[in-house]
Amino acid sequence: MPMQVPLFRSARTVMPRLGFGTWPMQGAECQAAVESAIGLGYRHIDTAEMYGNEAAVGAGLRASGVAREALYLTTKVWWDKPDGASFRAAFEACLARLATPYVDLLLVHWPSPQLRLESVLEAQAKILAEGLAKAVGVANFPLALLRRAVEAKIAPIACLQVEHHVFLGQQKLLAYCQAQDLVLTSYTPVAKGAVLQDATVTRIAAKHGATPGQVALAWLLGMANVAAIPKAASPARQAENLKSVELTLDEEDRAALAALPKNRRMVNPGFAPQWDG
Ligand SMILES: NC(=O)c1ccc[n+]([C@@H]2O[C@H](COP(=O)([O-])OP(=O)(O)OC[C@H]3O[C@@H](n4cnc5c(N)ncnc54)[C@H](OP(=O)(O)O)[C@@H]3O)[C@@H](O)[C@H]2O)c1
Repeated sequence: MPMQVPLFRSARTVMPRLGFGTWPMQGAECQAAVESAIGLGYRHIDTAEMYGNEAAVGAGLRASGVAREALYLTTKVWWDKPDGASFRAAFEACLARLATPYVDLLLVHWPSPQLRLESVLEAQAKILAEGLAKAVGVANFPLALLRRAVEAKIAPIACLQVEHHVFLGQQKLLAYCQAQDLVLTSYTPVAKGAVLQDATVTRIAAKHGATPGQVALAWLLGMANVAAIPKAASPARQAENLKSVELTLDEEDRAALAALPKNRRMVNPGFAPQWDG
């Protein structure tokens, strides 16, 4: 029996709380990884226009034999489409590459300094009304810009996707997402494997007979309104990460993980926004 993943539920989206990240896998490797992840029980797959793997992700979805309606598919439009018309055109190309009639979640991948927020939100609202996306949201938005997007009330923002792990907290963003009932999807949730070298994480893992990756994921999944999308190429590691849904950390574990320094941002390209803005 494939493992059951708990769901995040809001009025705007119903999302499996553990998903599968696909960056930077490409081509046949990516298709095989998506297929095996779905076979193991993942039902939420994360891709993006920029990843260059949407065709492979779409092929993996179809090859899995699991009905499209039972899967939650996210894609993102790259930040060089700062207005509604270019955003819409890029999204249509995403759908064509994925070869699916709709996505479950469509995100603005990064805010650009040229972003015409209202124009992009209007495009998202139209895409939603047409049923081409079931939910919309943003990624890599700092708090002030996220607030603007939500308060504009042009499109019902369902999700914020940001970097979030035991070495990088997102308390302010998470508090806002909880208050607004948005899901905060944590990317880079196992800190690209750096959890393997951390003494606190490995101690807690040994205590539970679990792995460091499972501890890092269980810490995130223990927070209200949080989902996580680890990437793993091999079926063995995909299964390892999926099993984190069965691990419950105690208060002492959570306090020790919360006390780790939270200043290790691993994804910070030159075009990133002012994070504390
Ligand atoms: N919105 C954005 O701007 C944005 C930015 C970055 C990422 N993302 C999304 O988030 C997903 C995940 O982020 P990420 O790939 O940056 O980081 P990640 O999931 O934290 O780490 C992936 C790396 O860690 C290894 N790994 C996976 N599970 C592990 C475990 N249990 N123990 C030890 N190492 C493990 C993987 O190796 P193997 O594959 O060899 O197992 C891979 O090298 C991406 O694939 C993408 O879908 C979104």
